[in-house]
Order: sequence, then C-alpha cells, then structure tokens
Amino acid sequence: MSNRTIVITGASDGIGAAAARALHNLGNRVVVVGRSPEKTAAVARGLDCDYLVADFARLDDVRSLAGTLLERYPRIDVLVNNAGGIMGSREETVDGHEKTLQVNHLAPFLLTNLLLSA
Ligand SMILES: NC(=O)c1ccc[n+]([C@@H]2O[C@H](COP(=O)([O-])OP(=O)(O)OC[C@H]3O[C@@H](n4cnc5c(N)ncnc54)[C@H](OP(=O)(O)O)[C@@H]3O)[C@@H](O)[C@H]2O)c1
Repeated sequence: MSNRTIVITGASDGIGAAAARALHNLGNRVVVVGRSPEKTAAVARGLDCDYLVADFARLDDVRSLAGTLLERYPRIDVLVNNAGGIMGSREETVDGHEKTLQVNHLAPFLLTNLLLSA
C-alpha cells in the first residue's frame, strides 16, 4: 500500500506509532493523531509528517479533529482507529459516558461517521 493518505489515531505510542512508521516507510502520507502534544509531535518529527491532537475523552475534541482533517485533506484513504486502552477504575467523561467505552468506541464511531458523512 503506497501513496495513500492514512490517518492513524493513538499514533503517539505503541502499535499506532509502529504502524505510522511502517506505513510511512511504504510511501504513504501519514497523519499522526495523538492525545499528548509532545509525544505526538515527536513521532511526527521522526516521520516528517503532519500531526493533530485530540483527547477522545472529550467529544468536542473529536468534532474539532474531524473538522480539521476534512479541511486539510480533500481525500482520506484510510482511517486507522487505533487509539484506546483500558482506563482502570470507573471514570466519567465530560460528555457523561464511562471513559473506556467513550475512548475505545464512542469517540472512534463519531470520528468515522463525521469523516464519512462529509
Ligand atoms: N497491546 C495489546 O496487546 C492490545 C491488545 C488488544 C487491544 N489493543 C488495542 O490496540 C490499541 C493500541 O494499543 P497499544 O498497546 O499500542 O497501546 P498504547 O501503547 O497504550 O497506545 C495507546 C494509544 O492510544 C492513545 N490514547 C489513550 N487514551 C487516549 C485518549 N483519551 N484520547 C486520545 N488518544 C488516547 C495513547 O495516547 P498517549 O500516548 O497520550 O497515552 C496512545 O497513542 C489500543 O486501542 C488497545 O486497546 C492492544
């Protein structure tokens, strides 16, 4: 797979960062998305690619992320919904959802649908 525009969430660390490197090395334009500005910028610097920051525990961040992606990239070939994890003890987000459910499911569902419906 090459010459595609590929957006990868959770690309500041772990599997997402490894996938970003691998897909970049295959000749794709990778856009790395993370929660931490510092960690995400460091991955993007290493790949000389764009990055965006959003905390999936805030659905307004996800809406802004989708808006910026749609503005900047007329065509997105692949969205890799990788961000997530198990958040430990029960916590509620500002949106009123259990945090693990929101970060792993609701936020990527919203992001995917905002990008698809444009
Ligand atoms: N590793 C496994 O064995 C395994 C097994 C099953 C499923 N998975 C899933 O595979 C994905 C990647 O796993 P991994 O092992 O690479 O995990 P990881 O190293 O902990 O990386 C998770 C990524 O998700 C981001 N993230 C976490 N909470 C977020 C939030 N509230 N908003 C936005 N981004 C957030 C992290 O950002 P920060 O850098 O800011 O923390 C990081 O970039 C996860 O969805 C995980 O649940 C992994």
